[in-house]
Formats: sequence, structure tokens, C-alpha cells
Amino acid sequence: MTTVAQHLQNADTHTVHEWAMRYTMVKRSVRLTRIHTRRTLTGWSWHGDIDDAVLVVSELVTNAVQHGRLAGHLLALRLTLLECGALVIDVSDPVPGFPNFAGALARDADPPHRERGRGLLVVARLGGEITWFERRFCGKTVRARLAGTRACRRCDDGLCTNSQGGP
Ligand SMILES: Nc1ncnc2c1ncn2[C@@H]1O[C@H](COP(=O)(O)OP(=O)(O)O)[C@@H](O)[C@H]1O
Ligand SMILES: [Mg+2]
Repeated sequence: MTTVAQHLQNADTHTVHEWAMRYTMVKRSVRLTRIHTRRTLTGWSWHGDIDDAVLVVSELVTNAVQHGRLAGHLLALRLTLLECGALVIDVSDPVPGFPNFAGALARDADPPHRERGRGLLVVARLGGEITWFERRFCGKTVRARLAGTRACRRCDDGLCTNSQGGP
């Protein structure tokens, strides 16, 4: 595991805290990201649901390991707390593209007996707004955004999107 507490390269001036780390693309990294996320959000006294955030991180990192793995590359987790209380969770992997992203989020992809193919739906049901974008040099970032408990007029107005850049 390589650590990179790195500053974010985005233009959002409403960032209160940011934290990032890189992990080897193996299953045991999922547990580490859960521990680190809980510790970080607790340290920030985040006013959202930390259990939900940990679950979202877990699903996105699991996906990076399962679907975005490339030999010799790491995955990156970045947590960004916005002034409005929203939490942006970015998980980056080295594989570009996200085939059938819309299909993965479609309701009919979730029959009750299905065990696989539910991770992104779980994220969505926890209130996570899921997007993805290509990274400039390598792979992509899958992003989930969770609301904090405070109402935010900038969020309501669609101004508080923190949608630029990736680790
Ligand atoms: N990081 C990723 N890179 C590429 N494809 C992905 C990634 N994350 C998810 N996917 C695609 O979206 C689908 C749905 O993901 P998910 O809902 O977590 O279900 P599961 O991982 O159990 O298949 C995956 O089967 C995969 O095809
Ligand atoms: Mg999954």
C-alpha cells in the first residue's frame, strides 16, 4: 500500500477537508479502506451517516478491485468534505470506460434473487449520487456523493457539484 495524502486539484473553493490514499488492487484493501474512511470521517466529525459512507466506499473499492484491476497499478480513494456538509467519495482505477453504466443503475437489474450486480444499486439507495469520469492520464474515477445533514442552498441550486478532476 502506498500512501499519498495529496491535495486535490480541483477548483472547488468550498472544500473543507480532503484526504486521499492509494491501495494495492487486492481484496484485503477493501477492509483497509473501510477502516480509514471511518477514522477519517470521525476525525472530521462529519454530520452525515458514517456507516453509510463506509458501505459506499466498500462497494466502490470492491468494484475497482473486481472490475477495474490492471497489473502494476493501484486504486485511489479520495474523500472530500464540502462546506455544505456533503461528502464526495472518489474511487479511481486504471481501467478506462464504464460499459453500461446506466444499465448497472437500472431498477430491472435488481431482481430479488440476484446476488451479484447490486453494489451500485445499494449505493444509490443509500442516497449516493453516482457518476463517473475519465481521468486525464489513466483510467477513471467513480464518484458517489452523500449529503450531510445540513441543508445546503448551493446543493439545491446545483452549484455545489465538485465535479472536476480526479486523483
Ligand atoms: N470500477 C468499475 N469498472 C468497470 N466496470 C464497473 C466498475 N464498477 C462496476 N462496474 C460494472 O458495473 C456492474 C455493476 O456493479 P455492481 O452493482 O457493483 O455489481 P457487481 O460488482 O456485483 O457486478 C459490474 O458488474 C461491472 O460490469
Ligand atoms: Mg460490485
